Amino acid sequence: MKRQRWGTRFAFVLAAIGSAAGLGNAWRFPYKAYENGGGAFFIPYFIALFIVGIPLLIAEFAIGQGFQSSAPKSMAKISKKFEFAGWWAVLSAAIITFYYSVIMGWIFNYLLFSLNVSWGNNTGDFFVSFLNRSSGPENVGGIVLPIAIGLALSWLWVYFILRKGTSSVGKTVAWTVPLPTILLVILGIRGMTLEGSASGLEYLFSPNFSQLTSATTWVEAVGQIFFSLSLGFGIMIAYGSYNTKKSDINNNSMIVAFGNSATSFLAAIAVFSILGYMANIQGVQVPDVVNGGIGLAFITYPQAISLLPGGVIVQTIFGLLFFVMLLTLGIDSVFSLVEAVESAFSDKFLITKKKFLITFITIGFLLGLFFSTQGGIFWLDIFDHFVGTYSLLVVGILETIIFGWYVGADNIREYVNSVSEIKIGKWFEYALKYVIPILLIFVFVRGAIEEFK
Ligand code: PHE
Repeated sequence: MKRQRWGTRFAFVLAAIGSAAGLGNAWRFPYKAYENGGGAFFIPYFIALFIVGIPLLIAEFAIGQGFQSSAPKSMAKISKKFEFAGWWAVLSAAIITFYYSVIMGWIFNYLLFSLNVSWGNNTGDFFVSFLNRSSGPENVGGIVLPIAIGLALSWLWVYFILRKGTSSVGKTVAWTVPLPTILLVILGIRGMTLEGSASGLEYLFSPNFSQLTSATTWVEAVGQIFFSLSLGFGIMIAYGSYNTKKSDINNNSMIVAFGNSATSFLAAIAVFSILGYMANIQGVQVPDVVNGGIGLAFITYPQAISLLPGGVIVQTIFGLLFFVMLLTLGIDSVFSLVEAVESAFSDKFLITKKKFLITFITIGFLLGLFFSTQGGIFWLDIFDHFVGTYSLLVVGILETIIFGWYVGADNIREYVNSVSEIKIGKWFEYALKYVIPILLIFVFVRGAIEEFK
């Protein structure tokens, strides 16, 4: 069977940026930056981007494009004994879609609730009664129907996007990538023109250099870059495999990496400027209104919107803009995860796209119901914690061994330089063979030690 191809280079780049720029950019990055030294966080962030993110992204694209195969098949072509690493990557991708799609289901609901902003003052209570009534492992009151409906909508959307492979994906990303970016700019401008916004941005950007001596800051930066560039799931390998062997790799990787970071910065500005406004109105300090983790998008930000000047209509509009932004930002990440699994199955079992999608989506929907209860968020957190943090690190470490040592970092560099406009230097080889595995092992071990503290 002939391998599907991206219609244009632009479609490929947009799809890759779409995968990278997801919900993590909107709430994870701003929060992590704020927590780890504000402006000073950008130093480890950019170092991690250049030393870990870009080289691994180049390597993943190169492997997919060079072998013209999904992650498991590429690994198997390198050596049969490495095929498992590819399957591990796509299994983690599958697990992530099972709960990421549920979060998309929440967003669909929030979109509806934005039409009725009176809930905005009580977003905390709302969040608790809607999603989180039990804080423990017991699921209260069975499946929450609106979440299940949102979940179904997410999966239906994924089906229509992936149905025709790269051609339908290309059509989708032509708007699902620019739209959230534009919306972030609008939200950012509105935020920055609010009274008190400067104090929010000051908290975000004013550097606390003493944080740079803490290992946690560096670990967080590496983790954020890794998660944000969607590395370690076989996504970028699958996407690379739909390019022809002669497509540019280095240039594309830089565009994807910078495009993704730009989205993170826009989001951070949009979020923190409005938090500054909110703190100002409530007469408190910015740290008093920052809500870590997922609450930033689902409690704090909606609350801030409900305080916007201009009355209900303005608030409704900004609520809608924010949740449309989140939906379109998130959807490209969801279907990229499914595509990584799809490409693996169709390479191995020659199953048709349609059969695969219908089977996978049915399973995804049924498993998603498990997270769609009140209290389901408890389980979602646990899965996210282990799969979203550790599994990708393990795959990353395996990749550096397989690509850096077995295929050879020198061979990869030679290949990517032969097809790319920008040439990368010898540093790439040291990064892939020594620096990245050592850093990732350090991040993994440190995280594991913290678990037991
Ligand atoms: N990169 C996405 C984000 O930052 C999340 C993601 C991780 C998507 C892994 C796909 C795979 O939100």
